[in-house]
Amino acid sequence: MALTIIKGTIVSAPAPGQLDITEPGYLVAEDGVIRGVYGTLPAEYTGKAVEDFGDCLVLQTFADLHLHAPQYPMVGTGMDLTLLDWLNTYTFPAEARFADPDYARKVYRQLSAELIANGTTRVAMFSSLHTDATLILMEELERAGVTGYAGKVNMDRNAAPGVLEETTEESIRETERWLGECGRFSHVRPMLTPRFTPSCTDELMAWLGKTAEERHLPIQSHLSENDREIEWVRQLHPDCRQYWETYAKFGLWNDRTLMAHCVWSDERERAAMKDAGVTVVHCPDSNVNVCSGTAPVRAMLEEGMKVALGSDIAGGDHLNMFDVTASAIRASKVRQMTDPAHPAFLTVPEAWYLATSAGAAFFGEAPGFAPGNPLHAMVLSDDALPQSHPLTARERFERCIYRRQQGALRAVWSAGRKVYEAE
Ligand code: GUN
Ligand code: FE
Repeated sequence: MALTIIKGTIVSAPAPGQLDITEPGYLVAEDGVIRGVYGTLPAEYTGKAVEDFGDCLVLQTFADLHLHAPQYPMVGTGMDLTLLDWLNTYTFPAEARFADPDYARKVYRQLSAELIANGTTRVAMFSSLHTDATLILMEELERAGVTGYAGKVNMDRNAAPGVLEETTEESIRETERWLGECGRFSHVRPMLTPRFTPSCTDELMAWLGKTAEERHLPIQSHLSENDREIEWVRQLHPDCRQYWETYAKFGLWNDRTLMAHCVWSDERERAAMKDAGVTVVHCPDSNVNVCSGTAPVRAMLEEGMKVALGSDIAGGDHLNMFDVTASAIRASKVRQMTDPAHPAFLTVPEAWYLATSAGAAFFGEAPGFAPGNPLHAMVLSDDALPQSHPLTARERFERCIYRRQQGALRAVWSAGRKVYEAE
């Protein structure tokens, strides 16, 4: 049996708004599966090797449930347009480059390494429409130790003909080819990915819905992100009262569905998500960068919806989920200031829960470092930051959301494997 014992200041989010702190503590995993967090090492482990990180913070790793791999080279550029113009001007040409497998290999190797080096070990990720580049992405994620889902994008209308668009027949054939190749991956699985309603014909949506059901596949897409987008969907589907119905009518709306953004989802649309068990992926950086708005996250939580966080690079400009967590708090404060109902903003423990446990739930994990979960953990130093007076573990944890020293990450475990160690 392979035993992992990590010693440090162990902080986890077992419930929204709640933190468990064990200081000092031992996080123990057997064969990559968490056995427990202990203040005193149980007798059965006496004499076993302990990885002692002193008083470093031992934290859950992140789940980034919405990001676009082929937009990684764009991060930090093209911030001068709003959503639909941004897609046509910058994004589609950037994704078109992934017809070249060598380019895909280089970019996806870098992206996968950067995810791990920032403590993100679980993802739900959009690729581009290219099957070969999508398989390369999955290979590189696995190699680096990132787990989760990736999807070949489906887009057979209203994109960039001659640059980045498929015919319906190509989209179906290539999706079949891609799914046929996915059996060789063990930690990264396929997820159906209609880009969003405007880029998929009814015929393609119907085929995707049927395929999702037949093969029991999860689904990811975008919903109610931007006012012009919503108006466009209304014109494309006059039979649907609301945007979500354009997914529901094709069988793409269930508890295996992730919907990014939902900035403008009203009570009725939110109720439809809750009833079906759809998970919202809140992407606060992207929502501000492409001028979409600030999502009603407090209302979503109060209504009992499932909400996780996404970096949404490259609409989002931060791949690092500590930064995205801080952005979610900031966006919720803007919402409090601008929404006539003045909803309460997110606390640090609440935002942390969204960035870790809430996303991990999509992969079937229990919240926090629960026994039975696969070991996803990271160790963070903060000894080079000022400590003019002694800080509590909770203060140190809170600070790390907003402020980290150079090279703060010491080690990362993903699905039981150690996948990163600082030199
Ligand atoms: N809607 C359709 N495609 C995209 C995309 O690539 N990024 C964002 N933010 N929204 C989208
Ligand atoms: Fe997106």
